[in-house]
Amino acid sequence: MVTFTLNGKQVSVEEGTTILEAAKANGVDIPNLCYDKNLSIYGGCRLCVVEVEGAKTLLAACTTEVREGMVVQTESERVVSARKDIIDLLLASHPEDCLTCEKNGECKLQDYAYRYGIKKSSYKGERIEYAIDSLNPVMERDPNKCILCGKCVRVCAEVQVTNAIDFAGRGFKTRVSTPFEAPIDYKNCRLCGQCISVCPTGALTNKQFKGTRPWEITAKVTTTCPLCGVGCNFDLNLKGDKIVGVTPNPDAVVNGTSLCVKGRYHTDFIYNPDRITTPLIKKDGKFVETTWETALNTVIEKLKETKEKYGPDAIGGLSSARCTNEENYVFQKMMRAAIGTHNVDHCART
Ligand code: FES
Repeated sequence: MVTFTLNGKQVSVEEGTTILEAAKANGVDIPNLCYDKNLSIYGGCRLCVVEVEGAKTLLAACTTEVREGMVVQTESERVVSARKDIIDLLLASHPEDCLTCEKNGECKLQDYAYRYGIKKSSYKGERIEYAIDSLNPVMERDPNKCILCGKCVRVCAEVQVTNAIDFAGRGFKTRVSTPFEAPIDYKNCRLCGQCISVCPTGALTNKQFKGTRPWEITAKVTTTCPLCGVGCNFDLNLKGDKIVGVTPNPDAVVNGTSLCVKGRYHTDFIYNPDRITTPLIKKDGKFVETTWETALNTVIEKLKETKEKYGPDAIGGLSSARCTNEENYVFQKMMRAAIGTHNVDHCART
């Protein structure tokens, strides 16, 4: 353990802990835009700077480890002045459309601008206008709102291991880009949306949430994904009694904040007018709607008929990873005990 002074208070943390993590563990919030505990340390935004006694310059709290006897100030006059300058610079080429931005209300840059009282940038220089990439059905990429924190690049490389995006260009023209500046789609990206989850601004947004302000989400219900057998957890976001989309739940044991394209964007099927909501039976070569009672009785009759005519092994049952363990157990029990065959299989067996 090492002991140091944080804003006048002595605290002890494990050796190797950064100032940012040590402060967080002791209830002190140091602003940060490029830090994420699940990603490699980048140290690019510099918003986390703190004053360390004896150091000539301000130090980035996310990259500096605590040393025995260190004296750290996280909100001194010098620190606050530096943070104001950094936010001022970040806003120098940032659209001022907070009122209509999809991230309004959950944008970290907006939060910090509010915290340090920066209403708009004092810089009057050139502004770059990039095209908005919105061709795919699930996400929108607005490079004008990007602050180059690199979280999307790192999550794509380090967590998703896809490397669909990276930094391109130099200096003022640095941007996050795809190979050959191609629009994001399933050919160069898995559309997992991990980059959306970590983006602190409105540069990357989930189209499913368009039209829903963050404060209109009335409840978040943690559930298990129904789309495969992995059992990922996430939060269903409700606007009134309607499910509007999925956000990751950091406490999910199986998947953490990772989700795949199906888990993150599947909820639109719930309200899809093409969804089959009643049983269908084929009559004269055409499917017609029927009741559950009729449908189930038809299945029972057909199974009995086949068993009597050809024996139980003429019947086979395929179950699904989308069912619960209990449902799958009951299904195989029905096949073995009621029908009398071991012809039962499951798509997740292999
Ligand atoms: Fe430390 Fe960005 S959070 S430099």
